[in-house]
Amino acid sequence: MGPGPSDVSLRVLEALSRPTIGHLDPRFVEMMEEVKGMLQYAFQTKNAMTMPVSAPGSAGMESCFANLVEAGDKVIVCQNGVFGGRMKENVIRCGAEAIMVEDEWGTVVDPAKVKEALEANPDASILAFVHAETSTGAQSDAATLCKLAQDHGCLSIVDAVTSLGGTPVKVDEWGADAIYSGTQKCLSCVPGLSPVSFSDRALEVIRNRKSPVQSWFLDLNLVMGYWGSGAQRTYHHTAPVNSLYALHESLRILQEEGLENAWARHEKNHLALKAGLEAMGIGFIVKEGDCLPQLNAVTVPEGVDEAAVRKALLEDFNLEIGAGLGALAGKVWRIGLMGHASNQKNVMLCLSALEAVLGQMKAPITKGVALDAAMAVYA
Ligand SMILES: Cc1ncc(COP(=O)(O)O)c(C=O)c1O
Repeated sequence: MGPGPSDVSLRVLEALSRPTIGHLDPRFVEMMEEVKGMLQYAFQTKNAMTMPVSAPGSAGMESCFANLVEAGDKVIVCQNGVFGGRMKENVIRCGAEAIMVEDEWGTVVDPAKVKEALEANPDASILAFVHAETSTGAQSDAATLCKLAQDHGCLSIVDAVTSLGGTPVKVDEWGADAIYSGTQKCLSCVPGLSPVSFSDRALEVIRNRKSPVQSWFLDLNLVMGYWGSGAQRTYHHTAPVNSLYALHESLRILQEEGLENAWARHEKNHLALKAGLEAMGIGFIVKEGDCLPQLNAVTVPEGVDEAAVRKALLEDFNLEIGAGLGALAGKVWRIGLMGHASNQKNVMLCLSALEAVLGQMKAPITKGVALDAAMAVYA
């Protein structure tokens, strides 16, 4: 129950252990087509360029920036947590200028500030933001932000690492141009792959670049020789064959459950955990309505050694919860309810284990009420 990787189901682990075949084997190529189709479903898009990058979420991020940004470009980057800061780093390393729109950690990206920045920088070519900020648990309004980008002639780059599969991600409806995710969060697959999707508008920009993409490995023009459609696939890099079996299986599980049902399950378990924690006296740092159901950032009670609590949960209950990142280090816990791990059993275990550990430490919490409060949500 940390911020990822989440628990991987036995079905996915079994798929991972199947015999390794060639990455150009016709059976494997068939499976790649299925992975692309199921990723289109997960992202809710018809984008032909939808596929997994052979590396973790950070490579998906880098893939979007390296392909779409050129030296001298101006990119508006929203930062309301750790990962917006990484977007800024990417822009700078592309030799471009990052115009920062900053919001307090724990709040969402403010569309009014974004509009102001777009109006003040009519020469900006891209708006980049994090949909689901894993460092704080805040969920920004991607539909509004993508629309603002379009209205001002910009492409959008969206970080959906923590949102995909756990909360609505609607690429075509939003009109998002480049979006990346990770396999280790709500898809409950092994870490190490980054599903991405690019709109035709984004592809047009990539095809007409003035300079070649600086990264050979991430250059989509080359990657598409392997992941593109058609029978003629060419070697680009040796695909992580077994990890792709695992992704295929985790996407099948998502399809069987149905996206809407997966979103509803994440929401329900979040509400139960929230009810239990708040009854105990532990508050959320993100305001109601802006919370990510899959990442619950809560305040450490007064006088409690937060690392000692995490250690006790891990050692005595085999339960991992996450620490705060960056500016929130030492101040919050991040409790994940992602993918396969988002279930009632985990919610109840987390509440009872936390109450037991905090009770022993004489922390200022209310005991004996959390489980009832959570059960009332399930009832
Ligand atoms: C919002 C967000 N973006 C990007 C990343 C980077 O992904 P990875 O660690 O898979 O490289 C993470 C990882 O937690 C994330 O939460």
